[in-house]
Amino acid sequence: MKGVVFNILEEMVIEGYGMDAWNDILDQAQQSTGIFIAFESYPDEQLFELVGIICEKLNQPAEIIVRAFGEFLFSKLSERYHNFIEDHDNLDSFLKSIHSVIHVEVAKLYVDPNLPTIECFDNPDGTMTLRYRSPRKLCILAEGLIYGAAKEYKQDISLTHDVCMHKGSEFCDIVVSYK
Ligand code: HEM
Repeated sequence: MKGVVFNILEEMVIEGYGMDAWNDILDQAQQSTGIFIAFESYPDEQLFELVGIICEKLNQPAEIIVRAFGEFLFSKLSERYHNFIEDHDNLDSFLKSIHSVIHVEVAKLYVDPNLPTIECFDNPDGTMTLRYRSPRKLCILAEGLIYGAAKEYKQDISLTHDVCMHKGSEFCDIVVSYK
């Protein structure tokens, strides 16, 4: 995972709980020094370890922390790359651009990023399915990012996620209902 993701995790902890809390987390971590350069890659295990320590400290399940992190991550990525948001009038159009535009641009900015494959399909009932595939199985992070994007576009949504790689499926179908 790119250093930028670690930098934003650090920002989330410091904004919520202060610098001492982040230093405590780093003290407990076996695999991280705490120095992350935005454009460099670090093993995913380092991120998972830090998230695991945060879950323990807050006594919360990983799903809650990872989803909240996804939402926070989106707000910080959108500050850094606001042009991607401005190019779209609504959430549906934005989500449909992630794979063919945004992550393509990310791949030009960052050397060898680990990005998921995302496909979007309109459903007859007006919902939209975002099909996520990645060996990292970070579908809950994707949910958080989608909630973060909905906030940015001031749109109320709900998500269902019954087809999931964590339940043995080859991909995750995250169904977005626009209210
Ligand atoms: C709702 C919108 C988005 C979704 C659902 C999404 C999804 C994801 C997911 C789930 C990952 C983790 C890697 C994986 O699962 O294999 C990821 C990585 C990443 N995404 Fe996105 N993304 C979104 C928007 C953006 C935006 C706006 C940017 C900003 C330019 C961005 C930049 C990145 C970067 C830098 C990484 C890390 C790549 C790496 O560590 O090598 N994404 N994205």
